Amino acid sequence: MRPRILTLANQKGGVGKTTTAINLATALAAIGERVLIIDIDPQGNASTGIGIERDARQYSAYDLMTGDVTIAEAMVKTKVPQLGIIPSTMDLLGLELAIANEKDRAFRLRNALENAGDAGFDDRGLSYILIDCPPSLNLLTINALAAADAVLVPLQCEFFALEGLSQLLQTVEQIKTALNPALYIQGVVMTMYDQRNNLSEQVLSDVKSHMGGLVYDTVIPRNVRLSEAPSYGKPALLYDLNCAGSQAYLRLATEVIKREKKLRAA
Ligand SMILES: Nc1ncnc2c1ncn2[C@@H]1O[C@H](COP(=O)(O)OP(=O)(O)OP(=O)(O)O)[C@@H](O)[C@H]1O
Ligand SMILES: [Mg+2]
Repeated sequence: MRPRILTLANQKGGVGKTTTAINLATALAAIGERVLIIDIDPQGNASTGIGIERDARQYSAYDLMTGDVTIAEAMVKTKVPQLGIIPSTMDLLGLELAIANEKDRAFRLRNALENAGDAGFDDRGLSYILIDCPPSLNLLTINALAAADAVLVPLQCEFFALEGLSQLLQTVEQIKTALNPALYIQGVVMTMYDQRNNLSEQVLSDVKSHMGGLVYDTVIPRNVRLSEAPSYGKPALLYDLNCAGSQAYLRLATEVIKREKKLRAA
C-alpha cells in the first residue's frame, strides 16, 4: 500500500514543526508504523536532532528533488527501529534557484515520491512519510504541500498563534486549486502548552473556536526534555520515554492514525 504523506508546515519559525516531526515519527514507529522523515529544511534540525551527523549525509533531500537518487537510495536508518530519514544538506538553499525555470518545479518532491512504495525496512514498505518544512512558504514548502496527502499544522500556544494561520490556510487552498486537489488538513496540534500560564488556555480555546474539530485533543506541553533531547541526537522518546512530552507525542500518534483510518474508510 502507498504510504500516507503528511507535511508539517507553518511559515512561523520555532513553533514546534521539527520537534513534532521527530517525535511524532518516533511515536508512530513505536506503535508499529514504518516511517520515513524527509527533512527539506536547509537548517537540517530534524537530521541533526535525530543523530545524523553532517558528514554522514551521503545523499539528501536535494539529491532526491533533483532526481539524482531514489527514496530507497537516499533513506538512512536511525536509532529508532522502523524509522528512516532522508537528511537535509545546505544544498537545499540553492534548490529554488536551480529549478526556478523548470516546468515541474513545484512537483519535484511529488515525482520523487512516486516510487515511495519501493522504499522501506522490509517487504511491507513504508506506511507514513512525514515532511519537515522550513519556516517559509517558499518553493520547498510548496513542493511538500504538492506532494502530500495532508498537512499537519503545529501551532505554538502563544499570543500570536492565530496570526499567520490564515495565511497558511490560504496557501493550502491555493495549492489545492492549482496543484493538489486532494490535499486536506489532517489537524492542528497545539505545542508548548504551559499549564501555569492562563494565556496558553486562552489561546487554546481561541484556536478551537476558529478551527473546531481540526484541533487534536492531544496538546503538547512545554517540556524541557523535548528541548534537551536533540542535543543528544535522540528523539525525546528515546531520551526519556516517560516524560510528559514523549507521552503526549504517543497520544498524538494514536490520534493521527485514528483520523487516517476514518478518512480512508470514508
Ligand atoms: N513542547 C516543547 N517544550 C519545550 N520546548 C520545545 C517544545 N517544542 C519545541 N521546543 C523547542 O522550541 C524550539 C523550536 O522548536 P522546533 O525547532 O521544533 O520548531 P520549528 O517550528 O521546527 O522551528 P523552525 O521554524 O526554525 O524550523 C526548539 O528549541 C525546541 O527544542
Ligand atoms: Mg524546524
